[in-house]
Amino acid sequence: MPIRAVAYVSEALDLDAREIDQIVTNAAAFNLQAGVTGVLLFDGIRFLQYIEGPEDGLGIALQRVYGATSHENVIELNRGRVGRRQFPYWSMHWIRVDQMELGKVAISDWTGFARAGYDLHGRITAVDQLSLIVSPHLTT
Ligand SMILES: Cc1cc2nc3c(=O)[nH]c(=O)nc-3n(C[C@H](O)[C@H](O)[C@H](O)COP(=O)(O)O)c2cc1C
Repeated sequence: MPIRAVAYVSEALDLDAREIDQIVTNAAAFNLQAGVTGVLLFDGIRFLQYIEGPEDGLGIALQRVYGATSHENVIELNRGRVGRRQFPYWSMHWIRVDQMELGKVAISDWTGFARAGYDLHGRITAVDQLSLIVSPHLTT
């Protein structure tokens, strides 16, 4: 089944860790049913989320993201097909990062959701950048 992915940044309303836990628990429960996986970065001000899954499930998850009042100004960084899942580890999981880390991922090259490569300027791709943040959080 073809897998589609979306990455976006958004601005969080004034949220504490407990509220984000609630959002993510709710998101993960839906995503599990929908076959959606991914990861959410939070730097205290902004979110950066990567989500992937089959077109129908991902579409509904995205509607929920766009409908959420806990954040605003959602800007998509990329949307498209991926050859295989890039972040299959969690239905959803959030990671606290600093503003520099989130910014780096946001401005990296999201083209084609490519990984293990370098962009035209010799920088690692956005998916690689995100993998570097995710790796220490994997328990297996
Ligand atoms: C940053 C963020 C990420 C979210 N990610 C998902 C998701 O991956 N899947 C999903 O079904 N809903 C997702 N949601 C929606 C929430 O699970 C939940 O439905 C919503 O936040 C509750 O509404 P409220 O924010 O208006 O209180 C997300 C919401 C936010 C704010």
